[in-house]
Amino acid sequence: MTELGAQTTDPNTRPLRVNAWNGWDPLRHVIVGRADGTMVQAPELAVRRDYPDDGFPLGTYGPMPEDMTAAANEELDNFAALLRRRGIRVDRPTPIDFGAPVATPEWTQPSMFGCMPPRDLLLTVGNEVLEATMSYRSRWFEYLCYRPVLQRLFDEDKRMRWEAAPKPRLTDASYHAGFWDTFNTQTTEEQLARVRDYDLVLTEAEPLFDAADVARFGKDLFVQLSFVTNRSGYDWLKRHFPDHRVHAVTSTNTHPLHIDSTWVPLRPGLVLHCGERLADPELMEFFKLNDWEIVEAVQPASWDHPPKLSFCSPWLAANMLNLDHNTLCIEENEVRLADQLAQYGFEIVPVPFRAVGPFGGGLHCSTVDIEREGGLEDYFPRRYGRY
Ligand code: ARG
Repeated sequence: MTELGAQTTDPNTRPLRVNAWNGWDPLRHVIVGRADGTMVQAPELAVRRDYPDDGFPLGTYGPMPEDMTAAANEELDNFAALLRRRGIRVDRPTPIDFGAPVATPEWTQPSMFGCMPPRDLLLTVGNEVLEATMSYRSRWFEYLCYRPVLQRLFDEDKRMRWEAAPKPRLTDASYHAGFWDTFNTQTTEEQLARVRDYDLVLTEAEPLFDAADVARFGKDLFVQLSFVTNRSGYDWLKRHFPDHRVHAVTSTNTHPLHIDSTWVPLRPGLVLHCGERLADPELMEFFKLNDWEIVEAVQPASWDHPPKLSFCSPWLAANMLNLDHNTLCIEENEVRLADQLAQYGFEIVPVPFRAVGPFGGGLHCSTVDIEREGGLEDYFPRRYGRY
């Protein structure tokens, strides 16, 4: 028997093609992150790490414990193998020495972070891959880990558009001095008012955004204003994608950081909503007017067991990877959420992924789609309010 048939179905021999317009069309090619060398970041204005019970009290930094890194990598490798078995091409980043200090002419930072969550850095919209600005000094150089993959895409897919948002200066002028000292002592109501009025750690000195604050619903892109995405970053994205409708959104989340556990596209007409982080009522109306159903996620299983050294919330449960309109990868412990979504007709693929959380996220954070079938569609023909 000839090997020809086998070869044409091998995802590694298909021509590379950058194409992804939404979070749900059939997945053909994805990047899965790596935990190697991940650091608890050194202090910087953008972010506060303080784990007195886990060996990293405020002001200290260093590599994540080796056993944790090994366990996370095992789960990431198994996840990559699972996707490959389903005929999906998987690429991986190339880690650099994240323990090394980095500098620009305007600042130095004693360490970097890691390359577990590719979602934070790269945004695929159609045939374009956009490198986000990022807003932490410790993540300024993280794009280097993805350059080998991006270079190959650029060389082999003659239609690919490779873009990078303006590299930010990240001087002290980009941050509100003393933000964390004040914010962390405020009441929930005060914090929510600051989220609503967008008065968080970042100033508007320059455009800043993480790719993971963008949710893709075809012609509509929703950009969350957060600890890592400012209004200017939103404005930059809006001008960068003139053929899209680009919306700025907030929710009742006191710690907004990446939209992908808050407002989660499931398939055309169905969005998952984290009930504890209520979306802007006008946004909800906009979805309903366009005949979308909004599912409120059940309480996560991980509620009572925050993992060691994690900076993510239990809502990481909702951080899922869609393989197509009917198939969802969900963390294996999140059985209640899996049952809830099975009722909507989804085949659930349970994936062990608890050990990855402390490295920056769940199944959505740890991936970035490079190719999904399908094209650009308008799922929201009717306007509502500012939408
Ligand atoms: N910050 C979110 C939470 O704690 C988790 C989402 C992380 N997403 C990511 N792309 N890294 O609920």
